[in-house]
Amino acid sequence: ERSLLGLKEMSRNEIESILDRAHYWESQQEKLIPVLQSRFAANMFFENSTRTRFSFEMAEKRLGAQVLNFSAAASSVEKGESIYDTVRTLESMGIDAGVIRLKPAGVLQELAEKVNVPLVNAGDGNNEHPTQALLDLYTMRKAFGELKGLSVSIIGDILHSRVARSNLWALQKFGAKVSFCAPDNMQASDLATYAPYVSMQEALQADVVMMLRVQLERHAEGMLRSADEYREQYGLTEERAASLKPGTIIMHPAPVNRNVEIDSAVVESEQSRIFPQMANGVPIRMAVMERAMKL
Ligand code: CP
Repeated sequence: ERSLLGLKEMSRNEIESILDRAHYWESQQEKLIPVLQSRFAANMFFENSTRTRFSFEMAEKRLGAQVLNFSAAASSVEKGESIYDTVRTLESMGIDAGVIRLKPAGVLQELAEKVNVPLVNAGDGNNEHPTQALLDLYTMRKAFGELKGLSVSIIGDILHSRVARSNLWALQKFGAKVSFCAPDNMQASDLATYAPYVSMQEALQADVVMMLRVQLERHAEGMLRSADEYREQYGLTEERAASLKPGTIIMHPAPVNRNVEIDSAVVESEQSRIFPQMANGVPIRMAVMERAMKL
């Protein structure tokens, strides 16, 4: 299988092989290893991105692939062309893989059934963000050696989070214990049977404290009454961070709302892995694009 649509249906062995291959790519001294020299990748972002878009491009270029960057705002999507017709257009031109980010959940699965080119999910509504979870698992494995038995608290806007979903599906396959913590109006009821919702105090006892961005762009009006109130109740403040176990690591997929879900000083603290997460995104996406396009 060359496509990567989500981690829910992916086996533990396959996830592990991507993590191991990322480790191989990270250990290479050479920045450019052109194993995908004759291959063409199209990065199709129908929703904004900084980290995912550029780390896919960095990964593709480090492997020597030719990269086509598609931006919906500068395309015929603005004239009403559909996502399906856009992907078919690029497929007709001969791309070997498409990296795609979409706002509405579920469209990616339909698309993958209709096209022949391998598709890589770069963020699918609030459904899955598999490469983010892969880089998160990679970051945890680096910090702790193995994932089995780790306690991971995912805190914040669970309802809108594709990152929470992909991490949940993947971490449970490895025997990690996932807990959620969220205000009532940001809980996802469909996930409650898979992981418990716990208090902030309990969530902070974990080995991994993963903070999520309050996704204002996906909120119905009035969901976030006050940023200060949110920070007080669910933010990883400097005071709360000081109460963590010394070995606990702090994660966040970013972009970060500094001083809302996490204090600015905590982003830069010793226990934070937020910038290493971004660095780890490159070897993970090298492994994923090699899998999608290798000859
Ligand atoms: N973490 C993440 O997906 O960031 P971007 O939206 O900037 O790609």
